[in-house]
Amino acid sequence: MIKSFRLGTLAVPVTSLLLLAACGSNKTADQTTTEAGASAAADSTQTNTSAMPTSASFGKTTDGTEVQLFTLTNANGVKASITNFGGILTSLMVPDKDGKMGDVILGFDNVSGYQSPEFLKSGPYFGALIGRYGNRIKDGKFTLDGKTYNLAKNNGPNTLHGGKVGFDKVVWTAEPMSSADGQSLKLTYLSKDGEEGYPGNLNVTVVYTLTNDNALRIDYTATTDKATPINLTNHAYFNLNHGAGKDILGHEVTLPADRYTVVDATLIPTGELRPVKGTPFDFTTPHAIGERIAQVPGGYDHNWVLNNAATPQHAAAMVYEPVSGRTMEVTTDEPGIQFYTGNFLDGTLKGKGGTVYGKNAGFCLETQHFPDSPNQPKFPNTVLKPGETFHSVSSYKFGVRK
Ligand code: BGC
Repeated sequence: MIKSFRLGTLAVPVTSLLLLAACGSNKTADQTTTEAGASAAADSTQTNTSAMPTSASFGKTTDGTEVQLFTLTNANGVKASITNFGGILTSLMVPDKDGKMGDVILGFDNVSGYQSPEFLKSGPYFGALIGRYGNRIKDGKFTLDGKTYNLAKNNGPNTLHGGKVGFDKVVWTAEPMSSADGQSLKLTYLSKDGEEGYPGNLNVTVVYTLTNDNALRIDYTATTDKATPINLTNHAYFNLNHGAGKDILGHEVTLPADRYTVVDATLIPTGELRPVKGTPFDFTTPHAIGERIAQVPGGYDHNWVLNNAATPQHAAAMVYEPVSGRTMEVTTDEPGIQFYTGNFLDGTLKGKGGTVYGKNAGFCLETQHFPDSPNQPKFPNTVLKPGETFHSVSSYKFGVRK
């Protein structure tokens, strides 16, 4: 029998009042979004929202497969472009405080950018769907039901973001859709038993939906025929000042998380959930990314333990960019979020419109289960079993603050 399944979470008693305060805005999310929506709508009388997403060629992969770029548009003229190569979100056009649209995502103009030797060598995973297991697994192995599985190692001694050929580098089957919620793109992929070392045939479906309240919702579903760990996320790099600012250090971030997972030198959690209070990891009230980043060797690249993880959809992050006035609110049903500040970008990648992506050119907010959970019995469970259906939803909602 198929039953619905939500992977384990850590319950933390924090009131929603505290959470609202932590978001640090004197406007509600609805107010900010309404303003953005209204000004964008004024500029977008040509937008046909009843239509299906459009599609165009995105070029050929290195093995000669033709891939597509799908563009979802909402009632306010917001546009999200996604390719079926890696399920990559390549661009997201959202209004600033004056209603002017701008692209807030790092990426490339065609599929060859995502397959260039420089890109593959530096491995930033721009905008991609990440799986079968997002983030790191220590020494590329885990034991499940008494059997040890050895994974493809691609990050020093560890496995990162699914291995050598993760879900970010495969061609997904795409189906554009439209519903009362907005335009969607449904992507499906069969990850075969043994792929990158993982057990079981895993059927994965990811639906991106662009809603009329300016949110990009990502809906992940999966089933398997053998027990397997699973941790699905999206690896978009955001810069809410879309390249007008060279880095993201001025963005103000709030993370409703009282603890984070401490990591070793290879970024594997030690198992300790350490309080953020009194440290540069304390984002329970808004702080500019650059304010304390120098106190964190290498920059932020950590998993925060979300306070309200026991509730189905909870706040995961709030971001405000003062120059453009753009805001982004992240919600999820996952227990953690990886806040990564583009520390490994070094100016070797040239993206859309020739933009050079230097250190801290974008930041990621990857909703997730904790890194290395398959080897950490005290962390929330990530094992999906046959007969269960994995389902998880995360949403990135855009607004402005004037
Ligand atoms: C990881 C970083 C890594 C980046 C790109 C993030 O999720 O935490 O350490 O460099 O992805 O691969």
